[in-house]
Amino acid sequence: MMKIGMLTSGGDCQALNAAMRGVVKGLTTNVDELEIYGFENGYKGLIYEQYRILTASDFSGILTRGGTILGSSRQPFKQMRVPDENGLDKVEAMKSTYRKLGLDCLVILGGNGTQKTANLLREEGLNIIHLPKTIDNDIYGTDVTFGFQSAVNIATNAIDCIHTTASSHGRVFIVEIMGHKVGSLTLHAGVVAGGADIILLPEIPYDIDKVVDAIHKRTKDGKGFTILAVAEGAISKDDAQLTKKQYKAKVASRRYPSVSYEIADQIQEKCGVEVRVAVPGHTQRGGSPCPYDRVLCTRLGSAAAKAIMDGKFGCMIAMINNKTKCVPLGEVAGKLKTVDPDSQMIQEAKRIGISFGD
Ligand code: F6P
Repeated sequence: MMKIGMLTSGGDCQALNAAMRGVVKGLTTNVDELEIYGFENGYKGLIYEQYRILTASDFSGILTRGGTILGSSRQPFKQMRVPDENGLDKVEAMKSTYRKLGLDCLVILGGNGTQKTANLLREEGLNIIHLPKTIDNDIYGTDVTFGFQSAVNIATNAIDCIHTTASSHGRVFIVEIMGHKVGSLTLHAGVVAGGADIILLPEIPYDIDKVVDAIHKRTKDGKGFTILAVAEGAISKDDAQLTKKQYKAKVASRRYPSVSYEIADQIQEKCGVEVRVAVPGHTQRGGSPCPYDRVLCTRLGSAAAKAIMDGKFGCMIAMINNKTKCVPLGEVAGKLKTVDPDSQMIQEAKRIGISFGD
């Protein structure tokens, strides 16, 4: 009898169910006896022994369903070694649940923070497989994460929709794109949409005067409107000089809900034009996975099943050059994949006239 546990942790995305389905289908097709323990709401379920015993049929018909059938929650890595409010040692509790159930492996789907805890559990002796999930595409060691392409599609659609109304009204519009501290989603949605005239990323601190120049240039060229795709983590050149602590304090005290509103105010003041901000927010994580993510997850899930059957644990199942690969968790956990400001894609975008405000 093979016993596996599964959990989905951190911010959700569209393709978590598709990935779990891939794992389970890969196992049930090839393993005679399988028991699946689905932990509820991420690591919480593992800590507090909240789980459901699932069967193959629970994973049937969920390829297209967004969210996660297991539920998710954020359990910060930094807090993992801190006892809970009742003094419970969370790491020991997770190990104890795993051992009590006699699991052969724990499949963990999540982003960077989740991956760090997965690595910690590996170091503590558990058999772990990690599947790289996040709309931010910021996991080191894989070309792409699942959820990313679905989010690109939604963010692109948001920019497309803003295009028509911006051009009717001759307005400057800011579309704020998710991505936490990384600009991959904004870059792809901004460039793929073909419509963002200015793209502001955390990796390329902006100079507001350069942004204003780019707007003026468009006006001079007879373009009646401008669209800015701004990453939620975008940062000005001045703010980039601050220490982490100083910047945190500045963000905490600023009167704007996010950086986009600050930029909007500055543009309005410097250009005397009307600026609107549109924030698609969590819609970028919602709905069903796009076909690309369905294929990606089916492949990653199937590769995870193979790794489990081969007894190859302690790794992330990555996609590298269109091939699935087991990458040791110890080599990637704690590293962030950011946008390279000198990458071809940035250069190509600049060549077609997109401003990065630098
Ligand atoms: O990591 C995924 C993500 O959607 C980020 O892009 C965003 O910054 C964050 O999660 C939002 O988190 P929450 O859902 O907790 O508000």
